[in-house]
Amino acid sequence: MCGIFAAVSNESVTSTLVGGLGTLSYRGYDSSGIVVSNENGLVRRRAEGKLESLSALLSDQPVEGYVGIAHTRWATHGAPSVINAHPHMTDRVAVVHNGIIENYPALKASLEKDGYVFESETDSETIPQLISRNLDKGMSPAVALKDAVRQLDGSYAIAVVFADEPQTIYAARYGSPLVIGQGAAGHFISSDSIALSRVARNLCYLDDNEIAQITVDTLSITNADGITVAKEMKPLVVSQQDQGKQGYKHFMLKEIHQQPEVMRNTLNHYCDPATFTLKEEAFPANLSSFERLSIVACGTSYYAGMVARQWFERYACLPVDVDIASEYRYRESPLSTNTLALFISQSGETADSLAALRYSKEQGLTCLSLLNVETSSMAMESDCYLRTLAGAEIGVASTKAFTGQLLVLLLMSLQMGKASGRLDRDAERELIKHLFTLPVEMAKVIDEMANIDTVAASLMHSDHTMYLGRGMSFPLALEGALKLKEISYIHAEAYPAGELKHGPIALIDNKMPVVMIAPPGPMMGKTLSNLREVSSRGAQVILISNGAGIEMAKQHITQAIEVPETAPLLQPLLYTLPLQLLAYHVACMKGTDVDQPRNLAKSVTVE
Ligand code: AGP
Repeated sequence: MCGIFAAVSNESVTSTLVGGLGTLSYRGYDSSGIVVSNENGLVRRRAEGKLESLSALLSDQPVEGYVGIAHTRWATHGAPSVINAHPHMTDRVAVVHNGIIENYPALKASLEKDGYVFESETDSETIPQLISRNLDKGMSPAVALKDAVRQLDGSYAIAVVFADEPQTIYAARYGSPLVIGQGAAGHFISSDSIALSRVARNLCYLDDNEIAQITVDTLSITNADGITVAKEMKPLVVSQQDQGKQGYKHFMLKEIHQQPEVMRNTLNHYCDPATFTLKEEAFPANLSSFERLSIVACGTSYYAGMVARQWFERYACLPVDVDIASEYRYRESPLSTNTLALFISQSGETADSLAALRYSKEQGLTCLSLLNVETSSMAMESDCYLRTLAGAEIGVASTKAFTGQLLVLLLMSLQMGKASGRLDRDAERELIKHLFTLPVEMAKVIDEMANIDTVAASLMHSDHTMYLGRGMSFPLALEGALKLKEISYIHAEAYPAGELKHGPIALIDNKMPVVMIAPPGPMMGKTLSNLREVSSRGAQVILISNGAGIEMAKQHITQAIEVPETAPLLQPLLYTLPLQLLAYHVACMKGTDVDQPRNLAKSVTVE
């Protein structure tokens, strides 16, 4: 969602600001803007659409200076337009904001009553107006800002520059992340650390209710009581692997190809490769004390939870609920303290998941999160968290974070089974041994998807598709359909194959391609029967299965994607890969914006 970048530097900041916004653009946005402080005061440039529009405007109407704030906006209050784009400003102050100001109608009414005139439809514009009113009352910039944020309800990360204090940028946060970087040329502020990697060597994170003040060579942070906070600056480490597309056409493709590496890192983090056992110290200590597991997440992370439910039932013999975060809080389901609440989130910032976590804490539940970003709000607010070791995921469509989540969840289910005495040493060793073959098997599947282009070509002109699977292949079908929808904009539905006859079969005709996921195992026969049902009604069927499955169904399918024979434990992880690649190739053929699909944001920080 919205991205903030700000700089106070001994070099001109305009290109640094636009470069910073470029790195943040993966978060999703529909307009952008900057304010630079120079001898002419606070000078603003804003544009609707992609960053190229802002760059074009800046080459038409250049602006230079050593202090500036910048923003990519993902519209919530008010349409994507120049007038609603940030920075919002008065003649005295300019502000960029990420978050939602919930009490903005009341604040706006009070400001308008005092004669302050708004130009946009946004909640964010309330902030510069409030600060301006305080300045007009005679407060200093620092006091005006402190008093203004005290009046805000909701969440905010803001960067602020004052006309009267042109060498300084202020930043404040409550509920939305902000990171401060220190580099050779000065100080920088960003919504995430990736965007700081070009300019900063060290960083620190701002905590809720803190206000930071940066100049080119100073940084000071105060808490809500105005007391100076001493923060340790930590070296900024962004792995080589996470930088740039590294020769791939899209981040999504790079991230698909990184999955074997993610599996290897995850296995080495949670397991001992010498003994093929789980490293107990890598998991929270008290896992066996819970009698129920409640998994809560959104989107792809929710589907990871749906797959994992079956592992927790099988290996840890635990009853499991899996909920969509935005629904969970409102269900009023009876919660008991012997339930472990498990939140799954790549970003750790998803507003619905964070709100569900807070709700569970209020109900007295122990909250464990599975996160890809260790510095995220969910990491800070959970009782404990487990890491996915996926590295930075830039493509909006989640790929390596999903398989990373699956593997940690599988290992966690084994650890819970072990801790409760249900999984013995021999079984543990046998299963972990299989898992260590995963990086090689994944690489093989990715490299051998030779005919995926032909299959993608057969889907690219479809308006609708249906994905079917049974058991763990049902959540995989949901995930495959989500990937296709997100990046190719083709309508895709997913059902458990057994549900077909209870309604969805009415949709089947020769214009409804069906992607059937049928790994070998006890469900295969029944899935192939469903396959015949759709094929006899005219559907083109794309079967994802092993060689034997494809041979059995060959008279009823149009195309097949073969996944090599593998241990059943590895199937969900390996069968995910063709689904990701299929969506990717369809999107490429359609020429959509694969890494930043329309209307989507990487971390969804509004409910
Ligand atoms: C996945 O491709 C999506 N972009 C989306 O569904 C995502 O998984 C969801 O918004 C949850 O995000 P999180 O894992 O960061 O909480």
